[in-house]
Amino acid sequence: MSTTFTVRGGKPLTGEVTVRGAKNLVSKAMVAALLGEEPSELRSVPDIRDVAIVKELLKVHGVGIDWDVEGGVIRMDPSNVERAHVADIDAHAGSSRIPILFCGPLLHRLGEAIIPDLGGCRIGDRPINYHLDVLRQFGAHVDKREHGIYITAPNGLTGTKIRLEYPSVGATEQVLLTAVRAKGLTELENAAVEPEIEDLISVLQKMGAIISLSTDRTIIIEGVERLGGYTHTALADRIEAGSWACAALVTGGDVFVRGAEQKAMSTFLNILRKVGAGMEIKDDGIRFFATDEPLRPVAVETDVHPGFMTDWQQPLVVLLTQAEGISIVHETVYENRLGFTSALNDMGAQIQVYRECLGGSSCRFGQRNFNHSAVVSGPRQLEGRNITVPDLRGGFSYLIAALAADGISNIYGIDLIDRGYESFRDKLTALGADFWEG
Ligand code: EPU
Repeated sequence: MSTTFTVRGGKPLTGEVTVRGAKNLVSKAMVAALLGEEPSELRSVPDIRDVAIVKELLKVHGVGIDWDVEGGVIRMDPSNVERAHVADIDAHAGSSRIPILFCGPLLHRLGEAIIPDLGGCRIGDRPINYHLDVLRQFGAHVDKREHGIYITAPNGLTGTKIRLEYPSVGATEQVLLTAVRAKGLTELENAAVEPEIEDLISVLQKMGAIISLSTDRTIIIEGVERLGGYTHTALADRIEAGSWACAALVTGGDVFVRGAEQKAMSTFLNILRKVGAGMEIKDDGIRFFATDEPLRPVAVETDVHPGFMTDWQQPLVVLLTQAEGISIVHETVYENRLGFTSALNDMGAQIQVYRECLGGSSCRFGQRNFNHSAVVSGPRQLEGRNITVPDLRGGFSYLIAALAADGISNIYGIDLIDRGYESFRDKLTALGADFWEG
């Protein structure tokens, strides 16, 4: 049941939060367990809704699951993988985008896959054409029906040469999860190389896969006949870590984000340095704190790794409303990820969005009527308002705007944040935030 989440803003967040494994790796590593003939164990698993959804989807396919929620360990036994009932699969329609990644593993294990209508955040069209094209290239037959997609591979799956039109994270994962057990060699050009993908490659290598990654974004996979299980500790969630960093700074606070990893966050840390954030980078985490100096504006362009990731953009925009001067944000990954700024303007921010590619290079959204560049003028005192969570990252951004604002904000649809931010209510309490639910 959705409640109203009420925040009294204006209190600096201070203290410590811990981030565990990355949502965008954990869910994929769980799917990878389906490929093995032995049990796998994943550690540092966060208690978030996306993990619960993948757990249920694995269960309906006969995977035995034992999840120690507090300890963050999930054990998966795929020795009895079986066809799932369509109704059981359909129960998960619209809840997440992860089901599309079940295709390769299910085709290898069962010769067919049924994928429900997908969900995920509405931050653009988010088509699945790359995924379906890739599966066809491996030899799968794709049949789109009213309530989902039926995929079969009567002749098995065979390695192939693929070039992605855009380095999509999901399509790269689709190739990896399919190619590892396809016959022969697969070469993937223009692959995404996000740290979560490298970590997925590590998981698959532990299972027995043979995968090499070159500096020119090409991945070569030699298919093997059999994969075993794995034991793996997920890399930390760099999106969650970046979100708490912005929350600390926008409220003028001081937060140690235990578990934040410098290497995977280096582009983010560079931008925060330019903004004038106080930072202390340690082996076991990163402290983010406000200094006596005013925050400075920046020009930022989101991009695939090693660029500034799109999922950091929304919390950063809230931070930039407090910088002295004009910042430019060019979103090049999703065509529609700046819609959340209108509620920030209602709160007193001054953000204008443009169709043009501002602040540097042209991207594939230029001249296509997508408002994908923003000019943020600051600093502006934010005022409490009634706001509705639009998507996961936009929702967290509204939360931190409310924490920085003067007065009371009522946030509706807060449950969406549970998809990707573990125990955020407990973490807010630990940091001294003033909020209540009813
Ligand atoms: N795209 C296509 N066709 C496809 C697939 C993608 O046109 O078949 C386009 C998308 O519309 C988008 C771009 O390619 O414009 C990049 O999409 P990508 O496939 O890289 O994204 P994804 O795999 O669907 C993952 C994360 C997102 C994150 C992006 C980019 C998961 C579950 N989701 O999405 O995370 O923003 O990569 O890094 O891993 C989030 O965590 O809140 C989130 C949205």
